[in-house]
Amino acid sequence: MSSPTTPHGADQRRGPFRSGERVQLTDEKGRMNTITLTPGGAFHTHKGFLTHDVLIGQPEGCVVSNDTGHKYQALRPLLSDFVLSMPRGAAVVYPKDAGQIVTMADIFPGARVVEAGVGSGALSISLLRAVGDQGYLHSFERREEFADIARGNVETIFGGPHPAWQISLGDFQDEVVKQEAPGSVDRVVLDMLAPWECLDAVATVLAPGGVWISYVATVTQLSRTAEAIRADGRFTEPDGWESMVRGWHLEGLAVRPDHRMVAHTGFLLTARRLADGVTGLTPKRRASKSEFSAADLKTWAPDDEHWDTEALGERAVSDKRLRRAAKDAASTVQRGAFKNTDQPDSAGGQVTDQ
Ligand SMILES: C[S@@+](CC[C@H](N)C(=O)[O-])C[C@H]1O[C@@H](n2cnc3c(N)ncnc32)[C@H](O)[C@@H]1O
Repeated sequence: MSSPTTPHGADQRRGPFRSGERVQLTDEKGRMNTITLTPGGAFHTHKGFLTHDVLIGQPEGCVVSNDTGHKYQALRPLLSDFVLSMPRGAAVVYPKDAGQIVTMADIFPGARVVEAGVGSGALSISLLRAVGDQGYLHSFERREEFADIARGNVETIFGGPHPAWQISLGDFQDEVVKQEAPGSVDRVVLDMLAPWECLDAVATVLAPGGVWISYVATVTQLSRTAEAIRADGRFTEPDGWESMVRGWHLEGLAVRPDHRMVAHTGFLLTARRLADGVTGLTPKRRASKSEFSAADLKTWAPDDEHWDTEALGERAVSDKRLRRAAKDAASTVQRGAFKNTDQPDSAGGQVTDQ
Protein backbone atom coordinates (compact mmCIF):
# COMPACT_ATOMS: atom_id res chain seq x y z
CA MET A 1 0.00 0.00 0.00
CA SER A 2 1.10 3.59 -0.64
CA SER A 3 1.96 5.89 2.26
CA PRO A 4 -0.06 9.15 2.34
CA THR A 5 2.85 10.93 0.62
CA THR A 6 3.65 8.29 -2.01
CA PRO A 7 1.65 8.52 -5.23
CA HIS A 8 -0.52 5.47 -5.81
CA GLY A 9 1.30 2.64 -7.56
CA ALA A 10 4.79 4.14 -7.09
CA ASP A 11 5.80 1.59 -4.44
CA GLN A 12 4.98 -1.23 -6.86
CA ARG A 13 7.64 0.06 -9.20
CA ARG A 14 10.55 0.19 -6.75
CA GLY A 15 12.73 -2.02 -4.56
CA PRO A 16 13.61 -5.72 -4.74
CA PHE A 17 11.35 -8.16 -6.61
CA ARG A 18 8.38 -9.35 -4.54
CA SER A 19 6.10 -12.33 -4.77
CA GLY A 20 3.09 -11.62 -7.06
CA GLU A 21 4.95 -9.12 -9.24
CA ARG A 22 5.31 -9.30 -13.01
CA VAL A 23 8.91 -9.58 -14.19
CA GLN A 24 10.18 -9.32 -17.74
CA LEU A 25 12.94 -11.83 -18.56
CA THR A 26 15.22 -11.24 -21.55
CA ASP A 27 17.46 -14.08 -22.68
CA GLU A 28 20.85 -13.84 -24.41
CA LYS A 29 19.16 -13.70 -27.84
CA GLY A 30 16.93 -10.80 -26.79
CA ARG A 31 13.77 -12.95 -26.49
CA MET A 32 11.37 -11.66 -23.87
CA ASN A 33 8.96 -13.42 -21.53
CA THR A 34 6.90 -11.98 -18.72
CA ILE A 35 6.30 -14.09 -15.61
CA THR A 36 4.40 -13.49 -12.36
CA LEU A 37 6.56 -14.37 -9.36
CA THR A 38 5.15 -17.14 -7.19
CA PRO A 39 7.07 -18.75 -4.30
CA GLY A 40 8.01 -22.28 -5.44
CA GLY A 41 7.07 -21.48 -9.07
CA ALA A 42 9.27 -22.07 -12.13
CA PHE A 43 9.70 -20.70 -15.65
CA HIS A 44 10.16 -23.59 -18.08
CA THR A 45 11.61 -23.47 -21.60
CA HIS A 46 13.32 -26.05 -23.82
CA LYS A 47 16.58 -24.70 -22.33
CA GLY A 48 15.63 -25.76 -18.79
CA PHE A 49 13.85 -24.10 -15.87
CA LEU A 50 14.35 -21.03 -13.71
CA THR A 51 12.89 -21.06 -10.21
CA HIS A 52 11.00 -17.92 -9.19
CA ASP A 53 12.66 -18.07 -5.77
CA VAL A 54 15.96 -17.14 -7.46
CA LEU A 55 14.38 -13.81 -8.39
CA ILE A 56 12.30 -12.98 -5.29
CA GLY A 57 14.28 -10.54 -3.14
CA GLN A 58 16.77 -9.69 -5.92
CA PRO A 59 17.21 -6.12 -7.17
CA GLU A 60 15.67 -5.07 -10.49
CA GLY A 61 18.18 -5.39 -13.32
CA CYS A 62 19.79 -8.55 -11.95
CA VAL A 63 21.00 -11.38 -14.21
CA VAL A 64 20.07 -14.91 -13.12
CA SER A 65 20.75 -18.40 -14.50
CA ASN A 66 18.43 -21.37 -15.00
CA ASP A 67 19.30 -24.97 -14.09
CA THR A 68 21.36 -25.44 -17.28
CA GLY A 69 23.24 -22.14 -16.99
CA HIS A 70 21.17 -20.06 -19.46
CA LYS A 71 21.14 -16.44 -18.39
CA TYR A 72 18.20 -14.01 -18.09
CA GLN A 73 18.15 -10.31 -17.40
CA ALA A 74 15.21 -9.41 -15.13
CA LEU A 75 13.36 -6.07 -15.09
CA ARG A 76 9.89 -4.85 -14.18
CA PRO A 77 7.92 -4.20 -17.38
CA LEU A 78 7.47 -0.49 -18.11
CA LEU A 79 3.96 0.82 -18.75
CA SER A 80 4.74 0.75 -22.49
CA ASP A 81 5.66 -2.96 -22.21
CA PHE A 82 2.66 -3.74 -20.05
CA VAL A 83 -0.03 -2.21 -22.30
CA LEU A 84 1.23 -4.12 -25.33
CA SER A 85 1.18 -7.46 -23.49
CA MET A 86 -1.76 -7.07 -21.09
CA PRO A 87 -5.08 -8.88 -21.61
CA ARG A 88 -7.17 -7.00 -24.16
CA GLY A 89 -10.56 -7.22 -25.78
CA ALA A 90 -10.27 -4.24 -28.14
CA ALA A 91 -7.41 -2.40 -29.81
CA VAL A 92 -5.42 -0.43 -27.25
CA VAL A 93 -4.13 3.10 -27.62
CA TYR A 94 -0.41 2.67 -28.31
CA PRO A 95 2.09 4.29 -25.95
CA LYS A 96 3.14 6.83 -28.61
CA ASP A 97 -0.47 8.05 -28.88
CA ALA A 98 -1.10 7.93 -25.14
CA GLY A 99 1.90 10.24 -24.74
CA GLN A 100 0.49 12.64 -27.31
CA ILE A 101 -2.95 12.56 -25.69
CA VAL A 102 -1.62 13.32 -22.21
CA THR A 103 0.50 16.21 -23.49
CA MET A 104 -1.65 17.70 -26.23
CA ALA A 105 -4.88 17.48 -24.23
CA ASP A 106 -2.98 19.01 -21.31
CA ILE A 107 -4.00 16.38 -18.77
CA PHE A 108 -2.70 17.90 -15.55
CA PRO A 109 -2.40 16.64 -11.95
CA GLY A 110 -5.73 17.18 -10.23
CA ALA A 111 -7.67 17.49 -13.51
CA ARG A 112 -11.30 16.34 -13.81
CA VAL A 113 -11.33 14.09 -16.87
CA VAL A 114 -14.05 11.97 -18.49
CA GLU A 115 -13.18 9.22 -20.96
CA ALA A 116 -14.94 6.74 -23.28
CA GLY A 117 -14.74 3.94 -24.27
CA VAL A 118 -12.56 2.19 -21.81
CA GLY A 119 -11.74 -0.85 -23.96
CA SER A 120 -8.89 -2.63 -22.23
CA GLY A 121 -7.95 0.35 -20.08
CA ALA A 122 -4.59 1.16 -21.69
CA LEU A 123 -5.38 4.84 -22.07
CA SER A 124 -7.11 4.96 -18.67
CA ILE A 125 -3.81 3.97 -17.04
CA SER A 126 -1.92 6.86 -18.70
CA LEU A 127 -4.73 9.27 -17.81
CA LEU A 128 -4.70 8.12 -14.17
CA ARG A 129 -0.96 8.60 -13.98
CA ALA A 130 -1.37 12.12 -15.34
CA VAL A 131 -4.27 13.23 -13.11
CA GLY A 132 -2.68 11.58 -10.06
CA ASP A 133 -4.26 10.61 -6.76
CA GLN A 134 -5.84 14.04 -6.30
CA GLY A 135 -7.37 14.05 -9.77
CA TYR A 136 -10.55 12.53 -11.15
CA LEU A 137 -11.06 10.12 -14.05
CA HIS A 138 -14.59 8.95 -14.84
CA SER A 139 -14.50 6.35 -17.62
CA PHE A 140 -17.62 5.25 -19.54
CA GLU A 141 -17.89 1.93 -21.35
CA ARG A 142 -20.92 0.42 -23.06
CA ARG A 143 -19.76 -3.22 -22.73
CA GLU A 144 -19.43 -4.83 -19.34
CA GLU A 145 -16.80 -7.38 -20.46
CA PHE A 146 -14.49 -4.56 -21.54
CA ALA A 147 -15.02 -2.71 -18.28
CA ASP A 148 -14.00 -5.88 -16.41
CA ILE A 149 -10.83 -6.31 -18.51
CA ALA A 150 -9.92 -2.65 -17.97
CA ARG A 151 -10.51 -2.86 -14.23
CA GLY A 152 -8.20 -5.88 -14.02
CA ASN A 153 -5.45 -4.15 -16.00
CA VAL A 154 -5.66 -0.92 -14.01
CA GLU A 155 -5.51 -2.82 -10.72
CA THR A 156 -2.54 -4.88 -11.92
CA ILE A 157 -0.45 -1.84 -12.80
CA PHE A 158 -1.40 0.20 -9.70
CA GLY A 159 -1.40 -2.77 -7.32
CA GLY A 160 -5.11 -2.27 -6.48
CA PRO A 161 -8.00 0.13 -7.17
CA HIS A 162 -6.94 3.69 -8.03
CA PRO A 163 -8.43 6.38 -5.75
CA ALA A 164 -9.09 8.78 -8.66
CA TRP A 165 -10.91 6.29 -10.90
CA GLN A 166 -14.46 5.17 -11.49
CA ILE A 167 -16.08 3.32 -14.40
CA SER A 168 -19.72 3.64 -15.39
CA LEU A 169 -21.47 1.28 -17.76
CA GLY A 170 -23.52 2.67 -20.63
CA ASP A 171 -23.24 4.95 -23.61
CA PHE A 172 -21.11 7.99 -22.88
CA GLN A 173 -23.51 10.43 -24.55
CA ASP A 174 -26.40 9.26 -22.34
CA GLU A 175 -24.58 8.70 -19.07
CA VAL A 176 -22.11 11.56 -18.79
CA VAL A 177 -24.82 14.23 -18.78
CA LYS A 178 -26.64 12.39 -15.97
CA GLN A 179 -23.54 11.91 -13.85
CA GLU A 180 -21.47 15.06 -14.39
CA ALA A 181 -22.68 18.62 -13.77
CA PRO A 182 -22.76 20.97 -16.77
CA GLY A 183 -19.44 22.76 -17.28
CA SER A 184 -17.69 20.73 -14.55
CA VAL A 185 -15.19 18.73 -16.62
CA ASP A 186 -11.70 19.95 -17.60
CA ARG A 187 -10.90 17.41 -20.31
CA VAL A 188 -12.85 14.90 -22.44
CA VAL A 189 -10.99 11.99 -24.04
CA LEU A 190 -12.84 9.82 -26.57
CA ASP A 191 -11.62 6.64 -28.25
CA MET A 192 -14.64 5.16 -30.00
CA LEU A 193 -16.18 4.56 -33.40
CA ALA A 194 -18.53 7.55 -33.57
CA PRO A 195 -17.30 10.50 -31.46
CA TRP A 196 -19.59 12.91 -33.37
CA GLU A 197 -22.56 11.24 -31.62
CA CYS A 198 -21.19 12.58 -28.33
CA LEU A 199 -20.87 16.20 -29.44
CA ASP A 200 -23.79 17.58 -27.45
CA ALA A 201 -22.82 15.67 -24.31
CA VAL A 202 -19.22 16.89 -24.57
CA ALA A 203 -20.34 20.50 -25.05
CA THR A 204 -22.62 20.19 -22.00
CA VAL A 205 -20.13 18.83 -19.48
CA LEU A 206 -16.95 20.56 -20.67
CA ALA A 207 -15.94 23.78 -18.89
CA PRO A 208 -15.18 26.87 -21.00
CA GLY A 209 -11.61 26.47 -22.28
CA GLY A 210 -11.75 22.71 -21.63
CA VAL A 211 -10.06 20.40 -24.13
CA TRP A 212 -11.80 17.64 -26.09
CA ILE A 213 -9.48 15.12 -27.68
CA SER A 214 -10.62 12.26 -29.92
CA TYR A 215 -8.59 9.32 -31.15
CA VAL A 216 -9.96 7.77 -34.35
CA ALA A 217 -8.59 5.10 -36.66
CA THR A 218 -9.70 6.35 -40.09
CA VAL A 219 -9.75 9.56 -42.10
CA THR A 220 -13.50 9.28 -42.59
CA GLN A 221 -14.04 9.35 -38.82
CA LEU A 222 -11.55 12.20 -38.52
CA SER A 223 -13.31 14.26 -41.16
CA ARG A 224 -16.81 13.59 -39.86
CA THR A 225 -15.84 14.51 -36.31
CA ALA A 226 -14.05 17.69 -37.41
CA GLU A 227 -16.98 18.85 -39.54
CA ALA A 228 -19.47 18.10 -36.75
CA ILE A 229 -17.39 20.19 -34.34
CA ARG A 230 -17.26 23.07 -36.84
CA ALA A 231 -20.96 22.93 -37.55
CA ASP A 232 -21.81 22.89 -33.84
CA GLY A 233 -20.18 26.27 -33.17
CA ARG A 234 -19.52 25.78 -29.45
CA PHE A 235 -15.87 24.83 -30.01
CA THR A 236 -12.70 26.33 -31.42
CA GLU A 237 -11.47 25.21 -34.83
CA PRO A 238 -10.42 21.56 -34.55
CA ASP A 239 -6.76 20.53 -34.95
CA GLY A 240 -5.97 17.11 -36.39
CA TRP A 241 -2.69 15.19 -36.67
CA GLU A 242 -1.05 11.80 -36.51
CA SER A 243 2.29 10.76 -35.11
CA MET A 244 4.74 8.23 -36.44
CA VAL A 245 7.59 6.76 -34.47
CA ARG A 246 10.44 5.12 -36.34
CA GLY A 247 12.87 3.07 -34.29
CA TRP A 248 16.60 3.06 -35.10
CA HIS A 249 19.05 0.21 -35.31
CA LEU A 250 22.13 1.21 -33.33
CA GLU A 251 25.10 -1.06 -33.77
CA GLY A 252 28.67 0.14 -34.39
CA LEU A 253 28.67 1.90 -37.75
CA ALA A 254 25.34 0.34 -38.73
CA VAL A 255 23.21 3.21 -37.48
CA ARG A 256 20.04 3.47 -39.53
CA PRO A 257 16.24 3.42 -39.26
CA ASP A 258 14.70 0.03 -38.47
CA HIS A 259 13.42 -1.83 -41.50
CA ARG A 260 9.96 -2.20 -39.99
CA MET A 261 7.70 0.19 -38.15
CA VAL A 262 4.10 0.58 -37.04
CA ALA A 263 3.01 2.84 -39.88
CA HIS A 264 -0.50 3.62 -38.68
CA THR A 265 -2.35 3.57 -35.39
CA GLY A 266 -4.83 6.45 -35.39
CA PHE A 267 -5.47 10.16 -35.80
CA LEU A 268 -5.90 12.70 -33.04
CA LEU A 269 -8.24 15.64 -33.05
CA THR A 270 -8.54 18.40 -30.47
CA ALA A 271 -10.92 21.30 -29.99
CA ARG A 272 -11.61 23.58 -27.02
CA ARG A 273 -14.94 24.61 -25.54
CA LEU A 274 -15.79 28.24 -26.13
CA ALA A 275 -17.60 30.32 -23.52
CA ASP A 276 -21.39 30.10 -23.79
CA GLY A 277 -22.94 32.47 -26.30
CA VAL A 278 -19.67 33.19 -28.09
CA THR A 279 -19.14 32.73 -31.82
CA GLY A 280 -15.72 31.27 -32.54
CA LEU A 281 -13.27 32.75 -35.01
CA THR A 282 -12.81 30.69 -38.15
CA PRO A 283 -9.86 30.90 -40.51
CA LYS A 284 -10.51 32.79 -43.74
CA ARG A 285 -9.46 29.99 -46.08
CA ARG A 286 -11.07 26.60 -45.73
CA ALA A 287 -13.51 24.35 -47.55
CA SER A 288 -16.92 25.51 -46.43
CA LYS A 289 -18.92 22.31 -46.88
CA SER A 290 -18.84 19.19 -44.76
CA GLU A 291 -20.95 17.24 -47.26
CA PHE A 292 -19.83 16.85 -50.84
CA SER A 293 -22.06 17.60 -53.76
CA ALA A 294 -21.83 16.99 -57.52
CA ALA A 295 -20.20 20.42 -57.84
CA ASP A 296 -17.58 19.47 -55.25
CA LEU A 297 -16.77 16.32 -57.17
CA LYS A 298 -15.72 18.53 -60.08
CA THR A 299 -12.84 19.76 -57.97
CA TRP A 300 -11.21 16.39 -58.51
CA ALA A 301 -11.54 16.49 -62.30
CA PRO A 302 -8.37 17.87 -63.88
CA ASP A 303 -10.05 18.26 -67.28
CA ASP A 304 -12.66 20.58 -65.82
CA GLU A 305 -11.93 24.14 -66.84
CA HIS A 306 -12.70 25.39 -63.31
CA TRP A 307 -10.44 23.03 -61.45
CA ASP A 308 -10.98 24.31 -57.93
CA THR A 309 -7.86 23.37 -56.00
CA GLU A 310 -8.47 26.01 -53.36
CA ALA A 311 -11.51 24.16 -52.09
CA LEU A 312 -9.15 21.26 -51.40
CA GLY A 313 -6.83 23.49 -49.42
CA GLU A 314 -4.19 23.72 -52.16
CA ARG A 315 -2.64 26.88 -53.56
CA ALA A 316 -3.98 27.92 -56.96
CA VAL A 317 -1.53 27.58 -59.86
CA SER A 318 -1.70 30.21 -62.59
CA ASP A 319 -2.08 29.27 -66.28
CA LYS A 320 1.27 30.98 -66.94
CA ARG A 321 2.99 28.84 -64.37
CA LEU A 322 1.42 25.69 -65.76
CA ARG A 323 2.56 26.58 -69.30
CA ARG A 324 6.09 27.16 -68.04
CA ALA A 325 6.09 23.85 -66.14
CA ALA A 326 4.83 22.05 -69.27
CA LYS A 327 7.61 23.67 -71.32
CA ASP A 328 10.19 22.67 -68.69
CA ALA A 329 8.87 19.14 -68.67
CA ALA A 330 9.05 18.91 -72.45
CA SER A 331 12.62 20.22 -72.62
CA THR A 332 13.67 17.88 -69.77
CA VAL A 333 12.29 14.92 -71.69
CA GLN A 334 14.08 16.03 -74.88
CA ARG A 335 17.40 16.35 -73.10
CA GLY A 336 16.81 13.12 -71.19
CA ALA A 337 17.98 14.95 -68.09
CA PHE A 338 16.35 15.59 -64.77
CA LYS A 339 18.17 17.38 -62.06
CA ASN A 340 16.31 17.28 -58.77
CA THR A 341 17.39 20.24 -56.69
CA ASP A 342 15.21 19.03 -53.80
CA GLN A 343 13.60 22.46 -53.74
CA PRO A 344 9.84 22.20 -53.71
CA ASP A 345 8.44 25.19 -55.55
CA SER A 346 5.55 27.25 -54.29
CA ALA A 347 3.02 25.08 -56.11
CA GLY A 348 4.32 21.98 -54.41
CA GLY A 349 6.17 20.56 -57.47
CA GLN A 350 9.92 20.19 -57.95
CA VAL A 351 12.08 22.96 -59.46
CA THR A 352 13.74 21.32 -62.42
CA ASP A 353 16.81 22.08 -64.50
CA GLN A 354 16.17 25.46 -66.25
C1 LIG B 1 -10.93 0.91 -29.20
S1 LIG B 1 -11.75 0.60 -27.73
C2 LIG B 1 -10.98 1.69 -26.57
C3 LIG B 1 -9.59 1.28 -26.20
C4 LIG B 1 -9.01 2.00 -25.01
N1 LIG B 1 -8.92 3.42 -25.21
C5 LIG B 1 -7.67 1.43 -24.61
O1 LIG B 1 -6.66 2.14 -24.74
O2 LIG B 1 -7.60 0.29 -24.18
C6 LIG B 1 -13.31 1.35 -28.00
C7 LIG B 1 -14.30 1.08 -26.87
O3 LIG B 1 -15.32 2.05 -26.94
C8 LIG B 1 -16.54 1.45 -26.50
N2 LIG B 1 -17.58 2.37 -26.98
C9 LIG B 1 -17.89 2.66 -28.28
N3 LIG B 1 -18.83 3.61 -28.33
C10 LIG B 1 -19.12 3.95 -27.03
C11 LIG B 1 -20.01 4.88 -26.42
N4 LIG B 1 -20.79 5.68 -27.16
N5 LIG B 1 -20.04 4.96 -25.08
C12 LIG B 1 -19.26 4.16 -24.32
N6 LIG B 1 -18.40 3.25 -24.83
C13 LIG B 1 -18.33 3.15 -26.17
C14 LIG B 1 -16.46 0.06 -27.13
O4 LIG B 1 -17.30 -0.85 -26.46
C15 LIG B 1 -14.98 -0.26 -26.95
O5 LIG B 1 -14.73 -0.95 -25.75
